[in-house]
Amino acid sequence: MSPLQVFVIFGVGLALSLEEENVFTHSAVLDAQGKFNLRWFFDKEKITFETTVETRGYVALGFSPNGGMANSDIVIGWVEDGRAELEDRFAHGESQPVLDSRQDWTLHEWQENGTHTTMRFGRKLQTCDAFDRDIKKVTTRVIWAYHADDPDPHRGPLYHEGRRGTSSLNLLDPPAPTPEWDSPDDVMVFDAFTQNVHVPSDSDTTYWCSAYRIPRLERKHHVMKMEAVIQPGNERLVHHIVLFQCKHDGNESLAHLSGPRCNVVRNALDCRPGRFLLAWATGGNDLSLPEDVGLPVGDDDGDVLILDTHYDNPHLRDDLYDSSGIRIYYTPVLRTHDGGVIQIGAKVRPTMMIPPGAERFNVYAHCSSSCLKEALPEDGVTVFASFLHTHLAGRSIRDRHFRNGKELKPISSNDAYDFNFQQTTYLKPYVKLLPDDTLRLECGYETKNRHNMTYGGLGTWDEMCMDFLLYYPKIDLDDCGSKAYDYDLASFFGVQNFTYTGRYDVIITKPDSHTFFNKSFFEAAQAHRWTQEEILAFEDHTRRIKYRMTCDGKHDYQADDQTEVPPTFQPLIEPPDDACEAEASSRASLHTSQATTVSLVFLVPTVMAWNLASV
Ligand SMILES: *[C@@H]1O[C@H](CO)[C@@H](O)[C@H](O)[C@H]1NC(C)=O
Ligand SMILES: *[C@@H]1O[C@H](CO)[C@@H](O)[C@H](O)[C@H]1NC(C)=O
Ligand SMILES: *[C@@H]1O[C@H](CO)[C@@H](O)[C@H](O)[C@H]1NC(C)=O
Ligand SMILES: *[C@@H]1O[C@H](CO)[C@@H](O)[C@H](O)[C@H]1NC(C)=O
Ligand SMILES: *[C@@H]1O[C@H](CO)[C@@H](O)[C@H](O)[C@H]1NC(C)=O
Repeated sequence: MSPLQVFVIFGVGLALSLEEENVFTHSAVLDAQGKFNLRWFFDKEKITFETTVETRGYVALGFSPNGGMANSDIVIGWVEDGRAELEDRFAHGESQPVLDSRQDWTLHEWQENGTHTTMRFGRKLQTCDAFDRDIKKVTTRVIWAYHADDPDPHRGPLYHEGRRGTSSLNLLDPPAPTPEWDSPDDVMVFDAFTQNVHVPSDSDTTYWCSAYRIPRLERKHHVMKMEAVIQPGNERLVHHIVLFQCKHDGNESLAHLSGPRCNVVRNALDCRPGRFLLAWATGGNDLSLPEDVGLPVGDDDGDVLILDTHYDNPHLRDDLYDSSGIRIYYTPVLRTHDGGVIQIGAKVRPTMMIPPGAERFNVYAHCSSSCLKEALPEDGVTVFASFLHTHLAGRSIRDRHFRNGKELKPISSNDAYDFNFQQTTYLKPYVKLLPDDTLRLECGYETKNRHNMTYGGLGTWDEMCMDFLLYYPKIDLDDCGSKAYDYDLASFFGVQNFTYTGRYDVIITKPDSHTFFNKSFFEAAQAHRWTQEEILAFEDHTRRIKYRMTCDGKHDYQADDQTEVPPTFQPLIEPPDDACEAEASSRASLHTSQATTVSLVFLVPTVMAWNLASV
């Protein structure tokens, strides 16, 4: 018996019973060829995975801090002669992962046929083993690999020869509601797809806008599901899609406008900004509404859709065409509630400023209670989903929720945000938003490798800080946000007065002793010596200053455009997580039985040239 086989785990199941299929609430295909399929489900303590991979060799799944192999927690399994083996390992670097002294995975069932290996295995979310990574409710960088052969009994798992990769997954997101469709007759489909758009080659970022007229409806219908349909091969080109709804003015020729300048299309349709309906971004999921909620179409809310497609063309290629878009499922059978979307966040303006060289810099945006008081009914609205959004520098987002001077649990948060993987997160439980509430969105950015200031803007190198809240019953509120009050912002740079020359350009007019007197305010910000102290001081400054609030709906709210110093609140103190300490003391007595295992770890030879994750 080789040392490896000491760790063989004989699962309780024999052959895989496929009847249990519906226990899995989540699934993902991890590779482009569809050969590595993952399904999973979880409860408060445990997670269970099923891998189905087109190989008869070993299969590896790992949890990485950043998508690389170093410091990844890896589980490797294979089936040989009808017996399955599963190993809990840890990769210290790009070398063969080392077997953990504690084996925390449990193998449940497996099956290997002529082409595929399927394994089901589970683990606690938090194992308290220093060589396991906790599985948390953040975007997890999952790494995967497989090999044509089972591991060599003497040398362990061999180099995977390139069958490997990394995917971001929100492992612990509550499952999406499954739409209840009574009869297929009730469901109608409308495709808002671009039509063979020739993607401009003069810019790496294009926002292509196209307008669509929803088929003429006699009365209100409810949208129950929306999904992005990306033209095969264009997965990297189509970076994100935002869908807006507008009211049509009756001029048919305008209802089919299409072009690279969204402002032109929107102005022509008098749809600025329009009512936000859906955001989809790389890696995103479908939007399914809860079974008693539908997004209204066909009534006063407008029958024109504007599809705003963001193309990412970094190599300025001239041979790219696209016909991607959003497929909309809607029904005349009305559900109990009209649903809506509120955009929470920082106004997309250069008043959102992020210094270069920051390990972490927080931007704050506020949804004031003066706005919510005016716009919300007395018993509030119920939020059922959230879509958090920043651009490339975003690392974390937290939508903090305050009521009566106290902080409640954040409506939505992600402390390991990944720009390339953005999803609608369904809330569990749903969250009540009341007129007395205040929201504060905190977006954390990393600009270590940037030399220039980063500003709020539409390009991927500019930044955004947004949370789109899906809720019911629908009210007249599209946007509840803020921008830093420009005079207060400028005071950090010793500027007392300035004048706008054009939409964004700002010329310093006071004091005349200022180095950048009569020059652009942005030049002054760029020239600022951004030491770590100054970065912290600037963040602190933006925490104390006044903000100009946005409170936008069809109605003219008084709270709109008012300046306010956002209130300070007693922060939420989450109880310390001492589950592992408790376990450590109860385990102390078991030490003797572990000793044999520990010594065997070092018998596993290290094979060179391991690299599980792609770079
Ligand atoms: C082998 O298993 C895979 C995955 O379950 C399945 O798709 C495939 O049809 C099976 N092949 C045969 C020959 O049974
Ligand atoms: C419709 O819009 C087009 C394009 O702007 C314009 O030329 C035309 O006059 C408009 N028609 C009506 C009836 O307003
Ligand atoms: C940084 O700013 C300088 C001066 O404004 C500009 O020339 C340069 O292209 C900018 N660099 C980047 C990466 O945007
Ligand atoms: C700032 O400058 C504007 C003109 O650009 C002027 O109207 C205003 O009074 C000035 N404010 C102060 C505080 O000097
Ligand atoms: C400000 O700059 C403009 C253009 O560079 C120049 O014409 C003007 O004289 C300057 N004003 C002052 C007060 O220096």
